[in-house]
Amino acid sequence: MDGDDVRMFGVLPFTTRMTVVRLASGGLWLHSPVQPTLERQRAIDQLGTVEHLVAPNKIHSLGIEPWKALYPSAKVWASPAFSKRHPDIAVDALLTNNLETPWNRDIDHCVIEGHAVLDEVEFLHRRSGTLIVTDMIQKHEAAGNSWMWRGVKHVAGVLGKDGGVSLDIKLSIRDKAALRRSIDTILGWDFDNLIISHGRCLTGGAKDDVRRAFHWIGGS
Ligand SMILES: [Fe+2]
Repeated sequence: MDGDDVRMFGVLPFTTRMTVVRLASGGLWLHSPVQPTLERQRAIDQLGTVEHLVAPNKIHSLGIEPWKALYPSAKVWASPAFSKRHPDIAVDALLTNNLETPWNRDIDHCVIEGHAVLDEVEFLHRRSGTLIVTDMIQKHEAAGNSWMWRGVKHVAGVLGKDGGVSLDIKLSIRDKAALRRSIDTILGWDFDNLIISHGRCLTGGAKDDVRRAFHWIGGS
């Protein structure tokens, strides 16, 4: 479900996307929730009951509280450093690699290690073979961007189908070996599709694309 556009760093235009998974139990799992509107809420209600709200990194906090207000019984799951950044947002559990989640038969998760700042958690929806990524891979559509922002996104390596890991993320890796291990875990998952929060998703062929996106780390 696409949300409203936002401005990163106050200027850079980003489209936003929430990923919705219906668990085998029938409950809904909302990843990186966008701001609810009446129309969005209606669409969600038609799919099932909201049971889980997921903040996949400490930046993607936007829709957590508004959805929690609408569905107070939903559990909030957040990235490892989320509460440090947002001490005011109530969280039921911070995600770690060892955490047993109630949705782990449907969805696996992996905390990406080795980055100095970004505390992102990636997810695998097993049944559809879909990898769910937030900011680590971006493929912004050129349409709707000025030539200047298209240029910036091209240089940053996040424009269109060839988009991947942005330059600022690459430049702030603290431990390449740890990052490599995390990415190898993800590449070991059984997926063929990719959903990302910013830009173009992939139906089929996603494994090769993700491998290519992280080729710069080396070692695998
Ligand atoms: Fe983002």
